[in-house]
Amino acid sequence: APREVRYVVGVSQCSDDEWREQMNKEIRREALFYPGVKIDIRTAKDNNAQQIADIESLIGEGVDLLIVSPNEADAITPVIEKAYNKGIPVVLVDRKIRSDKYTAYVGADNYEIGRQVGSYIAERLQGKGNLVEVAGLKASTSALERHRGLMDALRETPDIKLIASADAAWLRVPAEKAFGDILSKFPDIDMVFAHNDRMAAGAYDAAVKQHREHDMLFVGIDALAGEGYGVEQVANRQLDATFIYPTGGDKVMEVAMNILQGRDYTRETVLSTALVNKANARIMQMQTAHIGQLDNKIEVLDKQLDTYLMRYSSQRMLLYACIVI
Ligand code: FRU
Repeated sequence: APREVRYVVGVSQCSDDEWREQMNKEIRREALFYPGVKIDIRTAKDNNAQQIADIESLIGEGVDLLIVSPNEADAITPVIEKAYNKGIPVVLVDRKIRSDKYTAYVGADNYEIGRQVGSYIAERLQGKGNLVEVAGLKASTSALERHRGLMDALRETPDIKLIASADAAWLRVPAEKAFGDILSKFPDIDMVFAHNDRMAAGAYDAAVKQHREHDMLFVGIDALAGEGYGVEQVANRQLDATFIYPTGGDKVMEVAMNILQGRDYTRETVLSTALVNKANARIMQMQTAHIGQLDNKIEVLDKQLDTYLMRYSSQRMLLYACIVI
């Protein structure tokens, strides 16, 4: 093979969805800039036992570094500590564990995002109204922190009442079901905050079924570009707003390679967020489309490089053969 493997990086994702896909793509693309890196990605589909098995198997495989997004903090902490104690560097992404036995963390500040959502809602409702929260998986740190940030921000506006909160496990269909039940119980809802855009879309589906989608505003988190995702939902006014939750796969790989190659690295890398609303959604769509084209070009270049390397090594062999003869 033209490219020899020097480092194996194991990735254990808690979930399998468009947000994870984007991060995985960024990880793979960034790895192209470091010759000799092999990426092995596993996905646990929101199942703790599966994620523990995935990490055990990556440890068994002898990976040089682990990148993990832990599904639920308590459940996944022991296996991460096990890897760390064996001397495998661990980079946590997006969600955290209940221990400081990890090498680095890369992700946005979920508490801060929760606070920003809270201030946005307070402003949008002019300090008064009924709010419903459709939360992510209760035992994942991103959901816990988003909730805490929201509550802290709303402390200053007592007339905004959180009338119901449901755990919809980060998923669209459970969100539709949970919010459908809430709609039936509460005739007066002004604002729905879903911990991600996928659940916001599920909640919206439920509201459409009860012809109530125009009675309330929907706010989400993630702001993924691409058909049907957050930014488009804002552009076509299904969502009132969303907040960018950066996938940051390139940054994750950069930190991982700094660790592997013995360079200085930042232990906690905080990725930033920003509000996406009707004022900037269209611009974001245009810009991300352009970035997407550039990303594809990088991948085309890499494939061409592979072909050239292949050709070069076979020509070299031919040359040796000629010399020997
Ligand atoms: C993706 C996801 C995102 C969410 C994040 C929270 O798997 O559900 O939609 O923002 O995880 O950890």
